[in-house]
Amino acid sequence: MSGGFELQAWMQPRLARVEQALSGWVDASAPAGLGEAMRYAVLDGGKRLRPLLVLAAAEAVGADTSEAALRAACAIELIHAYSLVHDDMPCMDNDVLRRGKPTVHVQFGEAQALLAGDALQTLAFELLTPSFDRVPADIQARCVGLLARASGYWGMAGGQAVDLASVGQRLTEDQLRQMHRLKTGALLLCSVQLGAACGMAVPAACEQALVRFGQALGLAFQVVDDILDVTADSVTLGKTAGKDAAADKPTYVALMGLEAAQRHADELAQQALQALAETGLSDASLQPMRALAAMVVQRQH
Ligand code: IPE
Ligand code: IPE
Ligand code: MG
Ligand code: MG
Ligand code: MG
Repeated sequence: MSGGFELQAWMQPRLARVEQALSGWVDASAPAGLGEAMRYAVLDGGKRLRPLLVLAAAEAVGADTSEAALRAACAIELIHAYSLVHDDMPCMDNDVLRRGKPTVHVQFGEAQALLAGDALQTLAFELLTPSFDRVPADIQARCVGLLARASGYWGMAGGQAVDLASVGQRLTEDQLRQMHRLKTGALLLCSVQLGAACGMAVPAACEQALVRFGQALGLAFQVVDDILDVTADSVTLGKTAGKDAAADKPTYVALMGLEAAQRHADELAQQALQALAETGLSDASLQPMRALAAMVVQRQH
């Protein structure tokens, strides 16, 4: 029901702006090769789903996307990139392939990968805090708070801790849902919240519906990630397929089987669309978020 909306046409200029902004902000001249490792981790790859969600949500609430939302879009991608660098390290998932390239620790060594991740994390917060004439102080404070919480112990980092502690365990559906909500869902929800935070006076009911959208979409995203680990090949994924079963990770596929996991992802996408309909925002303004939700469950990588 995209009503003739062309997602590709919407995405193309926005992806170009994000790429250009990221390339400008991730400084090649950072000392002792750190800049090179940071740029390697961030540029030339990635679907940029989180930045696109920030921009889509910002546009839906009528926010200007030239400064605050663009900074938020890049900031969350930097946190995501850092999470991937650390996720791939030998002490975590021990992966050698990411975005079709050797992982950062394979290319630059473990210490440099650790530092690149650290520096990308702090750069994200630097982007969110320019001078107050560029982004008003209240928007800066809200964005910093949202991103800090979503990245931290009750967000991505906490979820990663649960993930590692759950190897070889059989989790209940409630436990698995909680793990996925934290490790992946938190940053996707945060993308939507950051976009909304760049708008002026978004009504509480609208904000709450956007939160429900982000939560459902975030969970759907990781359910699909679990599915693709089983169904897709490494070349298509740009990362090693079949890793979850090999590492004995609890996943939705392991819990309920492939078909039920696919059905569950579709249900979650429906919930996400339902939540969008409850935002009270105009149908036209919701088109990009609706199409991005469809992309999350239909994607091949
Ligand atoms: C992969 O995220 C890691 C998870 C959180 C499941 P993406 O599938 O968004 O990875 P990129 O950014 O496109 O490489
Ligand atoms: C990673 O989940 C989530 C984060 C990086 C926070 P996965 O370990 O499943 O991601 P992939 O499959 O390696 O991309
Ligand atoms: Mg992992
Ligand atoms: Mg991994
Ligand atoms: Mg995975």
